[in-house]
Order: sequence, then structure tokens, then C-alpha cells
Amino acid sequence: MLLIIGLTLQSCAFALLLISFDFAYGDVSYSFPEEMRRGSVIGNIVKDLGLEPSRLSARKARIDTDGSDKRYCDLNLKNGDLTASGRIDREGLCGDKASCVLKQELMLENPLELHRISLHVQDINDNSPRFNKDLIHIDISESASKGARFPIEEAHDADIGKYSVQTYNLQSNDNFILGVGTNSVELVLNKELDREILKEINLILTALDGGSPQRSGTVVIHITVLDANDNVPVFSQAVYKASLPENSQPGTVVLTVSASDADEGLNGEVTYDFGHISEDIRSMFTIDHKTGDIKVTTTVDFETASLFELRVTAKDGLGLTSYAKVIIDVSDVNDNAPVIYLKSLTNPIPENVSSGTEVGIINVQDRDSENNRQVRCSIHQNVPFKLVPSIKNYYSLVTTGQLDRELVSDYNITITATDEGSPPLSSSKTVQLSVADINDNPPVFEEQSYSAYVTENNKPGSTLCSVTARDPDWRQNGTVIYSLLPGEVNGAPVSSYLSVNGDTGVIRAVRSFDYEQFRSFKVHVMARDNGSP
Ligand SMILES: *[C@@H]1O[C@H](CO)[C@@H](O)[C@H](O)[C@H]1NC(C)=O
Ligand SMILES: *[C@@H]1O[C@H](CO)[C@@H](O)[C@H](O)[C@H]1NC(C)=O
Repeated sequence: MLLIIGLTLQSCAFALLLISFDFAYGDVSYSFPEEMRRGSVIGNIVKDLGLEPSRLSARKARIDTDGSDKRYCDLNLKNGDLTASGRIDREGLCGDKASCVLKQELMLENPLELHRISLHVQDINDNSPRFNKDLIHIDISESASKGARFPIEEAHDADIGKYSVQTYNLQSNDNFILGVGTNSVELVLNKELDREILKEINLILTALDGGSPQRSGTVVIHITVLDANDNVPVFSQAVYKASLPENSQPGTVVLTVSASDADEGLNGEVTYDFGHISEDIRSMFTIDHKTGDIKVTTTVDFETASLFELRVTAKDGLGLTSYAKVIIDVSDVNDNAPVIYLKSLTNPIPENVSSGTEVGIINVQDRDSENNRQVRCSIHQNVPFKLVPSIKNYYSLVTTGQLDRELVSDYNITITATDEGSPPLSSSKTVQLSVADINDNPPVFEEQSYSAYVTENNKPGSTLCSVTARDPDWRQNGTVIYSLLPGEVNGAPVSSYLSVNGDTGVIRAVRSFDYEQFRSFKVHVMARDNGSP
């Protein structure tokens, strides 16, 4: 065992000592490390005070303490060794005083001698640095700027001098370095924090003393990075597109916009609203401030407006706002039936027009789009007319054969237009067409010849018979006028014998006939119509 014993013979005592202990011969002082084993030798008073070992017992040499002072050493009466009587803990006895001196007295009788023994207890590195807590919580705002300092309570080491805390070590990390403050060690922000990348940081801070081997103590520093409202809400898309079938039920959700905000709490709470949009659009759509649902509130008509452009905003609790665009495409629904317009019509049409004559022009329109506006026009009737597609949505109504007013004088032509929507919509229009007369029928007698038998001496003006011719033409063209063809009967003109009523075809005798003059005669009656030609 190596003992470091500092020995000072204090032959000239202090004035005070001289007064109190005028019988003292001298003091001894020993220096030794704390925490020696019990019984370890501290020093030898026989040598140091020049005493006779054989007389120690006889002189009742002993370590004396007055009152409550504790005895720290024992005296070996055989050889004068001072030994440790128990544990000597420097820290317990002297705390962090720079020097730890324990006073003991050696008393001898016969003659009475009193020696002061100073025991200088030397520190050994028997204590580790200790932090007040195992875990230190610090809240640091992510907006803290580089160089900001955050004091941490120092570690304490019960040992003193070089065995006390000498240095600190901070677990290597991205953001902090160590700094020295007054009565504290400091975390110095070396790289700014970003809560959205790292919310919490745990760092181990180690305090080291100067012993050899070194002793150390650690503390965990738990850093909570507090949110600063440094994040704008971010929309999941810059432009949202949705398709809305026209005539959708009011209340239909067209689409949902969504923005996220990396901040926490109020800073990250996003509310949605419309940005600058026209009053018209505002009256047609609503946005749910919480969910971002955009709903249609009225019936949207594709034919009125097929595209809406809305601006939406997402705002966090503290007012940081971002913007997105919403494009709503209204998709067509086949909700408009084709409409047939009669653009021109020749009415009536003469019955003698040739086959293929254009008698009218039809136009069809459908307000829907694409297939919904593709229209076919047709006539589903057995009539001598057809539709011939012309430019765009125009059709010609043409005859497909010879007309005959005398057979059919009026046509109700029903034109049907059907679009290619699903389901298709159709509409129809009836075109009334009359056939105008042409004087194409000559009057025709009902019989080829008529005979009448008359008794002679008839009265002049008496009715002999009547002839009838028919003409199916219209009005004048079908009005039959009768007349006698010129001729002679017995050298006299026919008209001197007979007359025919031009309107009725009634034939009368003009004079009285004489059987003895002639028994029979023939006349030709002509029927002609009143047409032109
Ligand atoms: C055509 O329609 C009109 C009016 O509906 C009707 O009076 C007429 O008799 C119809 N003509 C034919 C030939 O069906
Ligand atoms: C009779 O026929 C002629 C052509 O032959 C025509 O011009 C005229 O309009 C017709 N008259 C009537 C009353 O239909």
C-alpha cells in the first residue's frame, strides 16, 4: 500500500494554540486518500513525535476527541501506528470544500501531553458526475434560429478538483453542438430544426470527470420540436378535374379537394373555400369547408354551360393559404330531342311533276353533342316521297314517282328524326302536301252511243235524251261542256233539229219531226272540259 503522507512538524504553534494548549509539544499532520480500508496505517506518531514506543501504554496514549467529534483513527500502542478506524469518506465529511482536514488529538499522561493531529483527507475519484435528472425535456420551436442557446443544468460530481466534472460530450447529431454557459452547459443550435422532418430528438449528454480512469454520468435530453406555422397547406393536385353529367341531382358531390398541412394542431388544420369565382358559379356549387367536398346545388345544363372553372383555397388555422384550380366538365346527356324545321315547301305541287322533283327542304337540329346530336331522318309511310340527305342537317323532300291528283290529292307526310343517343330521342313532324290539278283527263262519255226513239209530230223543245261525260279533273279542268258537232241532216244543219244543253247534256228537239221525211239520223255530241288547255 502506497500512502502519501505529508508530514509537518509544527514546532511553533499558532498563538491560539499556545493559549489553549500550552502543554502541547507539537502537531503532526498526515495526508492520505479517503476510503482506505479500516486498519490501514495513516502514520506513525512514535517516529513523528519522537515518542518512546515502550512507554505509550504506560502513558495511556490515546486519540481523544472532545464532545461530539468523531474519532477517525486508532493508535497502535505497540508501535505507534495511527490506523483508520473506519470509513473516511471525503465527500461525506467535507463536501466540496477544497481541502478536507480532520482534527484529532493525541493525549499522553504522565506527563500530560497533547498533540494535534491533522488528517488531510485526499480526494479519490470515487464519484461519478451526476445529472440532477435522468431525462431532461426541452421544447424548442422549429423556428428557432441558428445559434440559439438552450441551457442544460450542469452535472455534479461529489469529487473535487480534477475529479469533478471536467468536460461534456454530446452525442453526435445534426442539429446541436455544445456550448458553455454560466453555471450551465448549453445546447447550441447549429442547424435549424424542421418539425416536419424530425419531431423529437433524443440526445445523450455525457459529463466526464478528470480521473483516470474517467468516470462519467449521462442524461438523456429529450427535445420536442414545437411546430411553427411554417407550412402552407398543400393541395394534393394543382388542378382537379371532374366530369359532371348534366341534370345531376342537386347535392351530388362532384369531387373532393384535399390539402395537407404538415404543421400540427391549429397550424395544420385546413379549411377549404372558394377563391375568386363568379356569382353565377357560386350559386351553382358549394364547398364543404371541412371535407373539401364540392357539390352541385342546381341542375346544370350542358347546353347552357359545359365547363366550369373554379378556384379553391386551403387555409390553415393561422391563415397560410394555398390555391388550386378545379375544372368541372359537364358531360352531355341526351336530353334534347331533335327538332325538325320545314325550311321550304312547294305546296301544292302539280300532279305532273317528274319523279325526283324536290318539293321541300327540311332541317333538323339537336342541341346535344356528339352522338347525342347525330340525327337520322326518315319517312315511314308508303308515300311517293323520300328524304335525300343534303348538306349538314338538311334534307330534300323529293318525289319518288308520278303523282296523280285524281288518285291522291293530299298527303300528310310524317317525317321522323331520331338521334343516336342512348336511349335515343326522336320527334316527328307532319308535312301537309296537296297535289294541284293538271288538266290531264279528257271528258269520257259514259257510253259510246246513245239512242233515242221519238214519236213523230213531237213538240218542239221536248226532251229526247241526255248524254253524260265524266272528267275527274278539278274544277274547270273537270267541268264538262257539251255541244253538237256541226253536220247536216237532210241538207239542213243539225242545229235546226236538235239542241244540247251545254251544262247538263240534255238533248231536246228543236222542231217537230216527220216520220215520212226521215226515220232516223245520227248526230255527234262533243264533250269538252273547261280547262286550259
Ligand atoms: C291530313 O291531316 C289533316 C289534319 O290532321 C286531316 O284533316 C286530313 O284529313 C289528313 N289527310 C290525309 C290524306 O290523311
Ligand atoms: C287546270 O289545269 C291547268 C293545267 O293543265 C292548271 O294550270 C290549272 O291551274 C288547273 N285548274 C284548276 C282549277 O286546278
